[in-house]
Amino acid sequence: MFEQNRIGRAFSRAASTYQQRSVVQERVAQDLISLIQSAQAVALQGSSFVAEEDLATSSQHVSRSFFELGCGTGLLTRLLLKQYPENEIDALDLSPEMIGVAKQLCVEDPNVNFFVGDLSSFSANKRYALVASSSALHWFRDLESVFNQLRSLLDRHGLFAFSLMIDGTLSELHELRRELFPAKIPIRSLPTDESVLRDLEACGFRICNHQVHTYKQYFADGTAMLKAIKELGVTNGPFSHSQSFLSRGELRLLAQTYNDRFGVQDLGVVATYRVGFYVACV
Ligand SMILES: C[S@@+](CC[C@H](N)C(=O)[O-])C[C@H]1O[C@@H](n2cnc3c(N)ncnc32)[C@H](O)[C@@H]1O
Repeated sequence: MFEQNRIGRAFSRAASTYQQRSVVQERVAQDLISLIQSAQAVALQGSSFVAEEDLATSSQHVSRSFFELGCGTGLLTRLLLKQYPENEIDALDLSPEMIGVAKQLCVEDPNVNFFVGDLSSFSANKRYALVASSSALHWFRDLESVFNQLRSLLDRHGLFAFSLMIDGTLSELHELRRELFPAKIPIRSLPTDESVLRDLEACGFRICNHQVHTYKQYFADGTAMLKAIKELGVTNGPFSHSQSFLSRGELRLLAQTYNDRFGVQDLGVVATYRVGFYVACV
């Protein structure tokens, strides 16, 4: 719980800047929506995603509700609402401030219910046609147990679709930290694509679609990159902080070395994100 509180606080502090800084996360949410749409088009005849006209003739109960985990400021929530205006979304996040921004941005939409809290304290008296999450699941320490909880929320024909940051994200920064400050390595590392697939299979999910995308983001210099990730809420979490913090002098050295090592002509410095996308069903 201590770790969740810390993550929640980091995102609450970043809530007012997240929306402006989340350029990659926005692309990721758009790419996830495209995958959900193709899964809907291809795979799910007779399932929760059946077309409107089929619903009238379908004898089985079909859920029209979606659940979103780690909705943050609502990047994916808004895309879901736009794409599926007939469906209701229950969206959960640890940070009341992130939810506050999401509420402002979704203010006109009665189809979304926001919940503040951790997944472990969330209970629902219904099953969902879609359980979705974008750029959030890497914050969970034990993915297998989270997948099990999310599986129990799914309707019999439901889809589980998510994206998360995997090993190789901010690889430039991690490489420099290991090299410059080997005694201050972050406490946790991101999951690998292989470990995510293993955990999904261990929970009985069948994987319908799986992709890994790489995104490159450019910043004026190393200092601007460090400021941007701080304003995203990424620093202060277990992927950034070690047992002891980097001092101001160490941060300056990190930024300068970043400029020397990862400068790209005319573009500034580069930061890489590796993102896994998974669409699964039971
Ligand atoms: C990087 S943000 C992504 C937000 C949004 N999905 C997007 O694509 O922009 C990750 C979000 O996950 C939330 N989060 C992390 N751990 C959580 C948990 N245990 N329960 C609920 N939300 C959590 C954080 O509060 C944060 O808002």
